[in-house]
Amino acid sequence: MKSLSYLNKYLITYKWRLLLGIIFVFGSNWFKVEMPNFFGDLTDELTTWSDTNSPDDLLYFALKSGAYFFLLSFISSFFLFMMRQTIIIMSRLIEFDLKNEIYTHYQKLSFSFYRKNNTGDIINRISEDVTKVRMYLGPGLMYSFNLVILSILVIKNMLHESPMLTLFVLTPLPIMSYIIYKVSSKISTISTVVQEEQSHMSTLAQETFTGIRVIKAYERTHEMEDRFNKSAESYKKTSMKLVLINSLFMPTIFILIGISTIVSIYLGGLVYYESQITLGVIIKFIFYVNMLTWPFASIGFVTAMIQRAAASQKRINEFLEEKPEIVNHNFQPFTFHGEIEFKNVSFTYKNSGIKAINNLSFTLKKGESLGIIGKTGSGKSTVLNLIMRQIDPDEGEILIDGVSILDINLDEFRNQSGVVPQDVYLFSETIKENILFGCMDENIAEERLIEVAKMSHLYHNIMDFPKQFETLLGERGVNLSGGQKQRLSISRALIRHPRLLLLDDCLSAVDTETEDFILNNLANLKTTSVIVSHRVSSIRNADKIINLENGTTIEEGTHKVLLSNGGEYAKLYKKQLSEN
Ligand SMILES: Nc1ncnc2c1ncn2[C@@H]1O[C@H](COP(=O)(O)OP(=O)(O)OP(=O)(O)O)[C@@H](O)[C@H]1O
Ligand SMILES: [Mg+2]
Repeated sequence: MKSLSYLNKYLITYKWRLLLGIIFVFGSNWFKVEMPNFFGDLTDELTTWSDTNSPDDLLYFALKSGAYFFLLSFISSFFLFMMRQTIIIMSRLIEFDLKNEIYTHYQKLSFSFYRKNNTGDIINRISEDVTKVRMYLGPGLMYSFNLVILSILVIKNMLHESPMLTLFVLTPLPIMSYIIYKVSSKISTISTVVQEEQSHMSTLAQETFTGIRVIKAYERTHEMEDRFNKSAESYKKTSMKLVLINSLFMPTIFILIGISTIVSIYLGGLVYYESQITLGVIIKFIFYVNMLTWPFASIGFVTAMIQRAAASQKRINEFLEEKPEIVNHNFQPFTFHGEIEFKNVSFTYKNSGIKAINNLSFTLKKGESLGIIGKTGSGKSTVLNLIMRQIDPDEGEILIDGVSILDINLDEFRNQSGVVPQDVYLFSETIKENILFGCMDENIAEERLIEVAKMSHLYHNIMDFPKQFETLLGERGVNLSGGQKQRLSISRALIRHPRLLLLDDCLSAVDTETEDFILNNLANLKTTSVIVSHRVSSIRNADKIINLENGTTIEEGTHKVLLSNGGEYAKLYKKQLSEN
């Protein structure tokens, strides 16, 4: 339950709504409890009537009582309406704030967090877990206040009428609360299983349809169907179980209410015959007991609800307590001039224990280009992640314009860099929006858009689409070819006029002629740049080339120097030349 105390700050923010809600709960119950009192007194009054009363008297009496009863119900219902309007709305507002808080926090967290946790889990905590927490803040709190206030009002009246009868009729209620608690817990356990099975089924379906090409190519449709059927079958079975228990829930409550009513009538009758109470009191007790059963039943399911909310909040807190590993401390204006230096940098991925970078050093001067080549897994992408400070080195130092990367204004440094990652990610939006994603200025001129598209050798492709720059990509839009995606990604980096350009193997899917064209355009920009590639052709014009192996430099120099050295690089070059 301790985890829920995290929400107190929100309850304090919305304290006036909550307080007003409690006042409405009180008001609603106050008028509700007046009703049995009224009926009881009515009964007692009627028992004193005799033949002397005319039918007109009765009519007048009925109308007067009816009007009074209507008034009581109306006021009580109005307060009930207001109670929901305040407390339930408060819970929705807190849900909104909490989701925003989690979302903002997620965005601050570093790559390592996303490597550690899977996307489904991350999304679940902001959606389903927050919903469970809202159930505590809304219905949970509302029913709890209702229970306490109503019980106090009703029991006070009951004790006033007959303490002994009170004791007898109240005894079954806690037993009922316990039974309902057990049933609710069972329902919640099975619901969780149903939810898990449902999400398993959706994942399976999603995998099938996103991977439909591979499935059809390997003719695996029957296997996939079997897997889906099995999953659906088990979902069906658990759902049936849930339906059964859910169906038992209300009848159980009604039987228990019935038992309490019978007890009230029977015991009330006995006391009545001993002439200790009036008929009106029995009527009041029957109403009272009926009035209390629902709140007492709610103890059962509210307890289960609060337990679920506490478990969810605990999961949410786990993520909220995660500290971003990389934080910007410097908010001074910063302009990147173009120098990067690695001094004996080493880095090990904690999760795999792989030492991806091992004592790496190099310098890059303003306007220079650095080519990094190396076998797969040699650490090339890791170097770029280090430059962008997505990760921090375990040993050594990275200097940006001669200042440690830990001390510069990271936000501005990143804003001035254009990164083309190895895995292109495009949003399901238009081509134009995808390119403009790289740019801060929303009112960018059309000419600039065309210019970058031309520089990345994409313009003619875009013009071939009927809707040109407005072509929708991805889901239900046009799918670009691998090379087109890469070139769009380059346009995205270029549109922001980067002072540093990082290209991670982003020309692998284009032919060498196009590659030359794009590389020439980039070279004309004279931007400090790092180009990562498997192909010598992509980096051969770089001012400096590093050949990486197991995170260390095995060769370094210009294309010419490396060729004349006749080492690994020269061998690779000859091999790739003969392949073309
Ligand atoms: N997120 C990660 N978690 C754990 N280990 C990783 C992670 N990313 C990379 N590695 C490991 O670090 C090493 C270097 O990876 P890196 O991605 O830098 O290689 P690369 O040279 O870019 O390879 P490629 O040419 O295939 O893109 C690899 O052995 C890889 O398995
Ligand atoms: Mg890579």
